Amino acid sequence: MTDLSVKIGSLVLKNPVMVASGTFGYAEEFKDFFDLNQIGGIITKTVTLEPRPGNAPPRIAETASGMLNSIGLPNVGVEHFIIEKMPFLQPLSTKIIVNVAGKTGEDFVEAVVRLEDVDRIDAYELNYSCPNVKEGGLTFSANAAIAEQVTRNVRKVTNRPLIAKLTPNVTSISEIGKAVENGGADAVSAINTLVGMAVDLGKKRPKLSTITGGLSGPAIKPVALAKVFELVQNLSIPVIAIGGIMNATDALEFLLTGAVAIQVGTANFINPRAPLDILEGVRDYFDKNRIDGISSFIGSIKT
Ligand code: FUM
Repeated sequence: MTDLSVKIGSLVLKNPVMVASGTFGYAEEFKDFFDLNQIGGIITKTVTLEPRPGNAPPRIAETASGMLNSIGLPNVGVEHFIIEKMPFLQPLSTKIIVNVAGKTGEDFVEAVVRLEDVDRIDAYELNYSCPNVKEGGLTFSANAAIAEQVTRNVRKVTNRPLIAKLTPNVTSISEIGKAVENGGADAVSAINTLVGMAVDLGKKRPKLSTITGGLSGPAIKPVALAKVFELVQNLSIPVIAIGGIMNATDALEFLLTGAVAIQVGTANFINPRAPLDILEGVRDYFDKNRIDGISSFIGSIKT
């Protein structure tokens, strides 16, 4: 059996299949569907310093080959997260990556400081890219100087690996990627959702309460592949792919393009076992094609 382990800075995943933040709750919700320890990593729903109720409904709309969401980062806040959510995650043997966001750069730093004493957090994913909140969100990944400074400030308070989650809603994603690399990020994850809108003709209204939301699912896979390729070509740190990964073929295409690992997102809403199915498909591909190590496959696309 091929060794599927991959390295993201000092973080070693047993395999490259993770679940994307916001699509898998705090993992306990999925515990009856498959053995969570089989996948490479779990990325929690975003945690912020203070609890947030999220946006008013409707906050989800189905679109052609995709889904729009405008959830608005609802969460219990960092203190409740530590008490209520971490005890389920701590005994797991998969990697636990806590996704953190803030209204300000100081919020990111303060939330990470509070999480630093908590056992079994293997890395942080810094959510610089939520398109659905008025304060914070895209502010951080639409401006290279801000992205670099916030990353540098968080870097000062933790030795744990930092993954910066980037938005495609910018002119140059690699400029922002370079900035977070300079600020001390160990990896980037891309892409978060694309800003989109859906209209209800009958009601003559937007389908989402916030008018626009973030588009995910198969519709965005070609955009994600292009952005991942651009990042791989321009950065020295690893790139983790997100964006319309529905099956093993999708995952393999991103690995071939140079991503070291992938996150399964929208697929979890359709099939809660999707991460395991994808992992099994990736493993089968490597076994059938007698590929010795995943590292020789990653980035081996012929251009
Ligand atoms: O609205 C949301 O909670 C989405 C978050 C994100 O896209 O990062």
